[in-house]
Parts: sequence; C-alpha cells; structure tokens
Amino acid sequence: MTKKERVVLAYSGGLDTSVAIPWLQENYHSEVIALTLDLGQGRDLDGVQEKARAVGAVKAIIMDVREEFVNGFVWPALQAGALYESRYPLATALGRPLIARRLAELALEEGAQYIAHGCTGKGNDQVRIELGVMASAPHLKVIAPARDWGMSRDEEMQYAQDRGIPVPTTRASPYSVDENLWGRSVESGVLEDPWVEPPEDVFTWTNSVERTPDKPLYLEIEFVQGIPVAIDGENLDGVSLIQLLNASAGQHGIGRIDHLENRLVGIKSREIYEAPAGVILHAAHQSLESLTLTKEQQRFKATVAQEYADLVYNGLWFSDHRQDLDVYVSSSQQFVSGTVRLRLYKGAFMVVGRQSPTPLYSYELATYDKADQFDHRAAAGFIKVYGLTTKTQAERSQSNTER
Ligand code: ARG
Repeated sequence: MTKKERVVLAYSGGLDTSVAIPWLQENYHSEVIALTLDLGQGRDLDGVQEKARAVGAVKAIIMDVREEFVNGFVWPALQAGALYESRYPLATALGRPLIARRLAELALEEGAQYIAHGCTGKGNDQVRIELGVMASAPHLKVIAPARDWGMSRDEEMQYAQDRGIPVPTTRASPYSVDENLWGRSVESGVLEDPWVEPPEDVFTWTNSVERTPDKPLYLEIEFVQGIPVAIDGENLDGVSLIQLLNASAGQHGIGRIDHLENRLVGIKSREIYEAPAGVILHAAHQSLESLTLTKEQQRFKATVAQEYADLVYNGLWFSDHRQDLDVYVSSSQQFVSGTVRLRLYKGAFMVVGRQSPTPLYSYELATYDKADQFDHRAAAGFIKVYGLTTKTQAERSQSNTER
C-alpha cells in the first residue's frame, strides 16, 4: 500500500473545517492533522481536539499563541499606527500570518506535503494564509476545500450528516464572525445592505449606549517606547492589558466600527467591527506621539502608517518591505514613552491628558504666563525672511498690473 500523504489543516472546530477532514481523506487519500491556534478568540477550545479526532483527524493539536500574537504582530502594528482605510485595526489580518507560519512549521515537523484552510475564494484571508505559507515554506502545497468542493450549505449539511459529523441543530447565526484578542469582525446577513443599521445582536463585546454606565470612566495608560505596559499604574502583560481594555471600554460602548471596506480581491464589503482595546490604544498612542515626535516625524509617520496597514491587509506581512518599515517605526518610538489619560462615557471617549519624561512640548516655550522664554523679538526677523517670497510675488504683480 502506498504511504498516505499528510495534510495539516487549520481547524476551528466549526462545520466547514470539520467537513474538510473527511473531504481531504476522500479526495486526497490523506491523513489529516488538525491544528487549532488560540489567538484569544474567547471561544472555549476544550472540545475542539476531541471533535477533530472524532471526525477523523489522526492528530489534533492546540497551541496558545496569544503572547506571540500580541508581541510579534499587534504591538508592531500599533507602533506603526496601522489602521486600514484609517479605521480598521486589522485584527483578522494580523492573525492570519501567524496561523500560516504555525501551519507551515507543523507541516515540516510532521513531514506533510500539504496545508489546508477553510477560507472561501472571495475573501482576503485565503491570500494572507497562502502567502504566509509560501513565505515560510515555499515548497508546501495548499488545499482550500471550501473553495473547491462546490457544495451548497444544504449539501454540506447532508455530507456532514452522512459521515456522522454533528451539524448545528440551532438555526445557524445569520452572520459570519471572526474573532481574536485584537478584535471581532461580523459580515453577511442583513449587513450586506449598507443602508441597514446593524441590529443589536451583531455586537457581543460592546454595550449599546443605552446600557452603558451613567458615570464616566477615567483610564491612564502608560507606554514605553510605543508599547502599552500599564493601566492605572498596574503593570500588565500584553494579553491581560488588551483583555482588560476590551472589557472596560466595551462596557462603555466604545469600539464599534461600521466600515464599507475595499477588499484585496476587488470587491467592496460591509464589515462591522468591535475593537474596544484597539480603538482606545491607537488613539492613546497617537496622542502620545503628538507630545513626543517632531512635526516632520508625525507627518511622515502617517504615510508609513497607511503603507503599513495596506501591507498587513494585503497579506504581505512576511516581506522585506515590512521589515524595512519596522526599522523606521521602531526607531521613531525611541521617545514615545509616557502616560495618556482618557475619559470614557456613553460610547465616546476623549484623550484628556498626556505626559512624558521625554516630551518635545515645552511649557516655557508655549506659555503666555510670566515663565515665558520664547524670544518674541526674534519673531520679527523670522517673519521678514519667511515672508520674502510672498513679498516678492506681491511686488511683481503690482508692478505688472500698473503697466
Ligand atoms: N474584512 C476583514 C479582513 O479582511 C475581516 C475578515 C474576517 N474573516 C472571516 N473569515 N470572517 O480582515
């Protein structure tokens, strides 16, 4: 008998990737190794291993990669200020390259020739995962069952039933949801009409304004070189810090985003995001940068932020271009340390204070008080030189209209 091929499958525990297990066995004559990564999706991963084995996986592995996700992916993107189309903090987009790398590593370890994922042919995620695998182990081949099998939802349910795979008995959620520590995305159903206001059942991490507390919440977030390290004076590891902010900002109704977004594959799609920690941390970080960076750094860094966000969104995490940008970004963060104070109330928030041991803001230069050290008289000479071009142009147009 010929030796079976091995496939490492990115396994979520849901219907699609469960059906993919027998489908891969039948169509590729292969053994399936199921890999599930804990990126802080908040779902209970307890039963997932057993389920993978029950539907036929020869091995089922779960890895907690939350810390690596935060330190290796989320924090660099935060330091860069990466918000896709100025809004989306990129939760899913940052998770995919890590999933891809772990799939590739496990395939090498297990002597598998294939990796497989449950993405369809219409989204960004297939691109991110496949490019990530390509970058980590270019010889591996990729199978995307849900892109290839051509089954309708009903046919898929039947296929599952025939093979003893438990199918959801309750009416499936009308939405397609993806979650990790950095955020939650919701698509499909009524949301596909961009005119329709998102119904309240779309949101699970954030309160509606009606349900938020009646007292404002003040938060102090401390950063060291662009990375948040403490909240209200308490040092926290990255995972706990994000969890805490998701809970407290979510309670105050903060972090909802309604985004009509341009996908890499050429379509526009309506996405609802919940990213309480992401929204708060980006705003706080940017506010600290305004205290500690020069005007030129701020202007240029905004360009880098957009480039960085596009690259992450478009699946190019593993690229020399990102590494180059990371060098710039981390150099720019040298003095981005200090504390930002925010006030959260009824679905909105404001930065109400910021301080740094290394600011460029100078009280003596800014004040109108008697502590003022700005040389007022020097301004006259400055304006004379700075205004030379303006003056010369004005003189020219005068002498030319007179003739
Ligand atoms: N539109 C977002 C992105 O491209 C979220 C994608 C969510 N993925 C999913 N399979 N539901 O990053």
